[in-house]
Amino acid sequence: MPSTLARIRRALLASGCGAAAVAMLASCGGGHVPLPALSASIVGDTAGLVQRGEYIVRNVAVCGHCHAADPRNADGPLSGGVAFRNWRLGTIRASNLTPDVETGLGAWSEAEIVRAIRSGEDREGHTLAPVMPYAWFRGMSERDALAIARYLKSLPPVRNEVRNRPSLVYRAARVFALGPARPTAAVAPRPAADAEYGRYLANHVSLCGDCHTPRGGLQQKADLDRPFAGDASSSLPANPSNLTPDEETGIGRWTEDDFLRALRTGVNPRGDSIHPFMPWRELRRMRDDDLRAIHRYLRTLPAIRNPVPEKQAPPPPS
Ligand code: HEC
Ligand code: HEC
Repeated sequence: MPSTLARIRRALLASGCGAAAVAMLASCGGGHVPLPALSASIVGDTAGLVQRGEYIVRNVAVCGHCHAADPRNADGPLSGGVAFRNWRLGTIRASNLTPDVETGLGAWSEAEIVRAIRSGEDREGHTLAPVMPYAWFRGMSERDALAIARYLKSLPPVRNEVRNRPSLVYRAARVFALGPARPTAAVAPRPAADAEYGRYLANHVSLCGDCHTPRGGLQQKADLDRPFAGDASSSLPANPSNLTPDEETGIGRWTEDDFLRALRTGVNPRGDSIHPFMPWRELRRMRDDDLRAIHRYLRTLPAIRNPVPEKQAPPPPS
């Protein structure tokens, strides 16, 4: 599966833990993140939490893109198993997120799940492979992460033992260099069709920022000085588009309705269909106000001129 391969390579490089050992030590943290003390005011509302969690998992963060048994059906059971392979990591598989006690999250507390999502630290205190996008989820609110945990706990358990085969390089990195991410926010902005809430969704709940921000340099780090400027030389199966308000190379000439229509139909205003690697089939179920919030946030970004040509299809095998 080339898309997942490309993604992991990028994730590893982006973590700054991929290059030489020295670079790893210089750029990675260490230590542990304490379990969040979930406040009493948010833990009680099970119905509201499960509903919110389902919305995020299925329509906004699209966890099934990686964690579904068959990622082509992101809405299917989240029993994991899809392999991400490369020489740095070895073989890392997406975890079983169903509440099976032995092979999934059945024995985990909600606080442990919240910590894993936002910090990338698992139940035993190990740092998860950075394929899991905790670098972006670290700004997710405690309530949204708890909502995800409560939803995962409500799913039918599926027995599926997922085994990793970490490479030596990666095992060493885990011991000496890799560390969890520190969460940055406890509370989300008030939900509204405005730029502030859009910034929260696009960067910390949905993975728009992860895919659409260009990467560069030796470590292929996300270039946060050029947020959402697209990537003309991406290692992904399609080049993520420039979503800044630049009129020539971004989406500056799109109306808000154009934006909603593109996400809902998978066809952009030029009449081109959007590559299925862009998870529009799931994102299209986002509420109008949430999509509008994201669009209004994108309008506030600096317009960056960055032409992103469509990727040429690979030549047919000879
Ligand atoms: C780009 C792929 C990707 C996406 C998207 C993703 N994950 Fe993961 N996740 C992984 C991989 C791979 C692992 C295994 C990492 C490891 O074993 O070191 C993982 C591990 C986890 C773990 C730790 C489980 C355990 O048994 O150790 C949890 C919890 C988790 N993910 C939850 C989520 C949730 C919830 C979402 C959506 C909000 C999500 N992930 C989105 C790839 C992804
Ligand atoms: C897994 C990576 C990924 C994620 C997550 C993602 N995108 Fe995309 N997106 C892409 C790629 C790749 C393309 C280019 C597709 C093509 O070439 O047809 C794209 C294209 C688009 C387009 C069409 C632009 C044009 O000029 O045709 C829009 C609009 C868009 N994305 C918005 C979003 C928004 C908003 C989010 C978050 C809610 C998001 N994307 C999340 C990868 C992603």
